[in-house]
Amino acid sequence: MLIIHRMGSLEKILADMDSYDWDSVDDYRQRSPESYRLWRQHWIDMLDASGLSLTGSLLDVACGPVSLGAYYPDTIGLDADPKYIKAIRKQSIRGIIGDFRDMPFDDDEFDYSVCFSPPLAPYELDTLNIQRDLESCELVKEVTSEMIRVTKKKVLIVHTYYANAFAPQEFKHLVEKRDTNYILYSCR
Ligand SMILES: C[S@@+](CC[C@H](N)C(=O)[O-])C[C@H]1O[C@@H](n2cnc3c(N)ncnc32)[C@H](O)[C@@H]1O
Repeated sequence: MLIIHRMGSLEKILADMDSYDWDSVDDYRQRSPESYRLWRQHWIDMLDASGLSLTGSLLDVACGPVSLGAYYPDTIGLDADPKYIKAIRKQSIRGIIGDFRDMPFDDDEFDYSVCFSPPLAPYELDTLNIQRDLESCELVKEVTSEMIRVTKKKVLIVHTYYANAFAPQEFKHLVEKRDTNYILYSCR
């Protein structure tokens, strides 16, 4: 798998993505239009609940095959799986293959970033899973730190289950709003 590391301007990264060998990437198996609708509705509900109003550039971190770019034109999706980036590009959404622990963007590159259901939870909070919990803590810290680094205004992280259980203390002072399923950070 190709992971693009920090390597220059956003335009250059997008141009590199344009010339990527997409034929070598498997196609994502499409789901029904209804499942896409429900998927997207969940995000809209979370945006509404958090009060996040998007009016500028948006980075959709770990976007998967269905990005918020379907709603917000100035969106770039990032995912480690080329299959998902191929899928969103087919929907005319700009997408970049990358690792959310080390994103290929400059500081403050985007106005907003969102991450819906990062691959961290659920983990049972019992002694047998302490090691996995520690790994989750580390991963949440890395992705939160990277998102705050590349974002000028607000960062929204939505967890599906044990929301916030692994939220890093380092960024506590930036928390603007939180609830069971999400944390909204203000980067300024
Ligand atoms: C549960 S899915 C969430 C997808 C989408 N955001 C949604 O709400 O349906 C987790 C996503 O994280 C991506 N992912 C896993 N590890 C990653 C990494 N290190 N960097 C970037 N994306 C990653 C996976 O490829 C997958 O698309």
